[in-house]
Amino acid sequence: MIKNDLFLRALKGETVSRPPVWMMRQAGRYLPEFMEIREKYDFFTRCQTPELASEITVQPIRRYGMDAAILFSDILVVPQAMNIEVQMKAGKGPWVPNPIRNTKDLERVIVPDIDESLGYVMDAITMTKEKLQDEVPLIGFAGSPWTILCYVVEGEGSKNFAKAKQLCFSQPELAHALLQKITDTTISYLKAKIKAGVNAIQLFDSWGGLLSPEDYQTFSWQYLQQIIDAIKNESPVIVFGKGCWYALDTMAKSGASAIGVDWTITPQMARKLSGNNITLQGNFDPTRLYSSPATIKQMVKEMIDAFGKDKYIVNLGHGILPNIPLENAAAFIEAVKEYKVD
Ligand code: CP3
Repeated sequence: MIKNDLFLRALKGETVSRPPVWMMRQAGRYLPEFMEIREKYDFFTRCQTPELASEITVQPIRRYGMDAAILFSDILVVPQAMNIEVQMKAGKGPWVPNPIRNTKDLERVIVPDIDESLGYVMDAITMTKEKLQDEVPLIGFAGSPWTILCYVVEGEGSKNFAKAKQLCFSQPELAHALLQKITDTTISYLKAKIKAGVNAIQLFDSWGGLLSPEDYQTFSWQYLQQIIDAIKNESPVIVFGKGCWYALDTMAKSGASAIGVDWTITPQMARKLSGNNITLQGNFDPTRLYSSPATIKQMVKEMIDAFGKDKYIVNLGHGILPNIPLENAAAFIEAVKEYKVD
């Protein structure tokens, strides 16, 4: 039994005294204790070493007492396991030396044995669960097949992922074959994570909003739906699509327990478009954490009032930025813990 079950209850839509809170990228570069480990070990070493990954995961919980932990890892460990080399370049982000651009490239992409290639993630989960002592739930995650395609085809981060979209529209069969391999891998990966002990799964579709509503269905949503169908009976699922407000109705009917929303939509509109019944998560503008602690507290209170305390998980609308002052992050969490309905 998890002692603080606010997050799990919100996922079930139960009535709560206050909404739960966590922050996307909560284990990150704004934390001095994270920076200490980051100085000694490169990014994927941190992901691949269970002692380090579990330690980094619990750092923000110790400091701030969020209502859920999210396993420190990356969505790009999945393509790595599929035989696609991915590096993390300091100051630049992800880099794929040999991107997938044609049929020959696709031939070397495998659907791996998960225990063999990603067993270190399961070990990190076991070790994290030991450290958390059932105080709060642990979230596991994966990227959406579309968002992973963006990186492995483009080869690096991008504002518009034009090469990735070019592949989809000029060689749709190739794109779909790649998306299906990523989907099959992701399903086995998430089932293994659930078996290893995570209490909920979040699917990150960070680049879904680059697609038109119609193309979103074709190149992103149908694969996310396969994943949700495959795991929803084993774990609650949160689906987060950045810029995907137009798909809120689809997401609400998908069998997911909750939908993550970014800050470009009002709580009222998000409720309306999702049919006023499903748990929503979000949607504080991450750059708003540069406001004063007093302003942050006021804005968080207004945000909860607008979403309503039930069927709601307080979060940012995307990941926390590296140079947010510690006291500002504290104000965000405290505002939720102090929340009372007027
Ligand atoms: O939320 C958490 O705290 C869990 C850990 C987590 C990381 N990445 C750690 C990380 C999660 C859930 C992710 C997901 C992820 N990774 C996404 C989807 C969510 C999103 O932010 O859109 C994406 C697109 C990636 C790919 C990725 N990894 C990028 C684009 C970058 C570079 C960005 C940057 O800030 O430099 C990463 C690196 C990364 N992943 C960092 C962290 C803490 C920063 C690298 C570092 O430690 O130096």
